[in-house]
Amino acid sequence: MAARRRMATGGGIGGGQPGVTGERKPAVVASLLVTNIGQLVTGDPRLPAPGVVEGAALAASGDRIAYAGPTSGLDVATGPDTIEVDAHGAAVIPGFVDAHTHLVWLGERSEEYALRAGGASYEEIAEKGGGIRSTVAATAAGTVEDLATAARERARRMLRLGTTTVEIKSGYGQSLEAELRQLRAARALGEQADLPDVVTTYLPLHGLPDGDRVEYLEGVLHEGLRAAAPLAGFVDCFCETGAWGVDECERLLVAAREHGLRAKVHADQRSHSGGSALAARVGAVSADHLDHADDEDLRALAVAGVAGVLLPGASMVLGGAPPPGRRLLEAGATVALATDCNPGTCWCESMPLMVALGVATAGLTPAEALTAATAGGAAALGLSDRGRLLPGLRCDALVLETPRWLDVGYHLGANPVAQVIAAGRLVRR
Ligand code: NIG
Ligand code: FE
Repeated sequence: MAARRRMATGGGIGGGQPGVTGERKPAVVASLLVTNIGQLVTGDPRLPAPGVVEGAALAASGDRIAYAGPTSGLDVATGPDTIEVDAHGAAVIPGFVDAHTHLVWLGERSEEYALRAGGASYEEIAEKGGGIRSTVAATAAGTVEDLATAARERARRMLRLGTTTVEIKSGYGQSLEAELRQLRAARALGEQADLPDVVTTYLPLHGLPDGDRVEYLEGVLHEGLRAAAPLAGFVDCFCETGAWGVDECERLLVAAREHGLRAKVHADQRSHSGGSALAARVGAVSADHLDHADDEDLRALAVAGVAGVLLPGASMVLGGAPPPGRRLLEAGATVALATDCNPGTCWCESMPLMVALGVATAGLTPAEALTAATAGGAAALGLSDRGRLLPGLRCDALVLETPRWLDVGYHLGANPVAQVIAAGRLVRR
């Protein structure tokens, strides 16, 4: 027999309401119910950011949120199969959406880390054969299983740190087949229920090829896009001095449209090289990095509805300009925070650390940073079904170790996550 939870009438976001005749609609039977939440961060845009409801409950029916709101309005039924979680006053926040990673790689570049600490620049190291080229050498020959095994460990760490959706790029293959193997490995992770949901991005213009770049680009345009389209949702390019030029990137992004691949750009990361303006011009879903974007670029992104993805870990590791969080918000753009997890510029799986860095270095308030790491990440992936805790959205939520959502950024370097709920299932206690 299903037991009915009803603490009071009405008031809840999405609770069952009395019918016009006065009879009550049958309550939804929750598959998961979290009670005794101290602070529930909903991301509800009708509330002051980040949309905190005190004394709350969260219920899922299957993979969707059936109720998110004050305990007083809770109206769901529980049955023998309902998983019940007592949060004991802890905070609950949306799962993190990490919208920019290069998770599939083999090998490592710790030596470059030490060289940079000794004064060598990222560009100098790349010119001497290190950088992306060295990861391509280690990664390109890997089988799908080799690649998935290496990436799985990183994805597990991400999930433990609260990431419930992760974008994964290719980019360390360079030959068509090697790039496709990276995409297949990324998709294999996405099929595992105990790992974050995966969104894949084909990144054929990353490091420069050993052979002729014109020939390589033609191969990507005429063969690569068609082959990658069934395996990826997005296409991306490293638009930068010393990497790929604006014209080359534009050809790629425009050609990708015919294959249903939406655009992303590594834009103005190391110099003001025109990537943001390109992203705005082609109507990309996101422009990422932006460390050297000027105010005109940021306004253009806002007007074109392009989300700005900030990667404060990479900015910090490379020691350059901090990412323009405040300026992006003032321009009116959507801001996302992501890890950029990669072996060269930021080996980091932690979104809580990115929230802290977003506040410490990018000029964001804690509420803006948390929103950027959840709803902002979802926007940067074109996903309207997650990133907030509202009825009808995917139930991706984190029960924290602490009663305060502010501790996510405040407790620097810690893992604030006690329990992870992904698509309505408790995947990690
Ligand atoms: O986002 N900037 C280009 N791509 C990566 C770094 C890749 C690498 O160094 O392996 C980034 O920072
Ligand atoms: Fe990147």
